[in-house]
Amino acid sequence: MAPILSRARLLCRLPTSTLCQLRGASNATAPAPQTAIVMLNMGGPARLDDVHDFLLRLFSDTDIINLPVQSRLGPWIARRRTPAIQEKYAEIGGGSPILKWTNIQGEKMCEQLDQISPETAPHKHYVAFRYVSPLTEETVPEVVASGAKRVVLFSQYPQYSCATAGSSINALHQYCQQHPLPPDVRLSVIDRWSTHPGLVRTFAANIRAQLEQLPEDVRRQVVLLFSAHSLPLRAVARGDPYPAEVGATVQAVMAELGHSHPYRLVWQSKVGPLPWMEPATDAAIEAMAKRGHKHLMLVPISFVNEHIETLHELDIEYAKDLGEKTGASIYRVPAPNDHPEFIGALADLVRTHLAEGGGVRPQLLMTCPMCTNPACFPAKRWIGETVNRS
Ligand code: FES
Repeated sequence: MAPILSRARLLCRLPTSTLCQLRGASNATAPAPQTAIVMLNMGGPARLDDVHDFLLRLFSDTDIINLPVQSRLGPWIARRRTPAIQEKYAEIGGGSPILKWTNIQGEKMCEQLDQISPETAPHKHYVAFRYVSPLTEETVPEVVASGAKRVVLFSQYPQYSCATAGSSINALHQYCQQHPLPPDVRLSVIDRWSTHPGLVRTFAANIRAQLEQLPEDVRRQVVLLFSAHSLPLRAVARGDPYPAEVGATVQAVMAELGHSHPYRLVWQSKVGPLPWMEPATDAAIEAMAKRGHKHLMLVPISFVNEHIETLHELDIEYAKDLGEKTGASIYRVPAPNDHPEFIGALADLVRTHLAEGGGVRPQLLMTCPMCTNPACFPAKRWIGETVNRS
């Protein structure tokens, strides 16, 4: 494991131009992949200098945020928020580890896939982020140049939302309008996997391990707070499937744990003044502590690796600061990261997907009942046509 970790840590600290060169250099000596697995995520700034551009892309994305006069207000908000967000990243080591973790997960997943699915080997992972390098438009040409004839788009959000996985698909569609994929590339999509048994076992194992560190009498008092990234209520009203899919993960994890503890699903990371899903994680902690629940365990149920929402928001703002304020002991369960069960889940998802012929599930091809985003329907039609042409 050590060589992979050190390489990923090194990549995480490099400027993006150097990073792309390094990735290219390693491609030159590796065998050409038969199957490329493109890991989709929103990404996070690896360096403080990347924070502004990350925020600019985020606040300019109409799939995730709708602002009046967005072309002017988005850049203004990004500029204004940059110093405060940079401070937060500085507190967690100077940048987001999300690229590091995604590369570790991708490399380990492909190692397993080469073993369990030799007929589709060699496998190679690629990373396509929405708001920071490697961006979709940087990664797709790399994938095409690799010569891989099977390309699997693999959302790294277990629970689908139009604001996350949907935004990645819309971005890919937009790019491919200008740069069509070669006709002999077979494209397919893994768009959601909220109740995959390996994912569920990973969360359950991490919760058990955290509980076991506590004395028996404390363990019995723990309330599990499953904390997911919140979503604007406007998106929920459009019919975004995310809240239901997060709930499905929570139910499956609690069943795996034998419903050993009381629990609630709470929502974090709200941005702006409009109403988002509630209860907010911080408000729930305060209210529960007041009611005498003094041992709360946070489970980052919509995150598959550590990033600012876990390392800063959960660990510093809630577990530490709010813990001191309320007098509650707040514990945090790690994200799946490189848990062996989780790596096995990623490999199994891709192996099963390929063995079943790839494709795309009908659920991805349907728009939300109240969708008003003009990008969604053409992107879904394109993905359906592109996947089904092969
Ligand atoms: Fe869900 Fe457009 S907002 S498909």
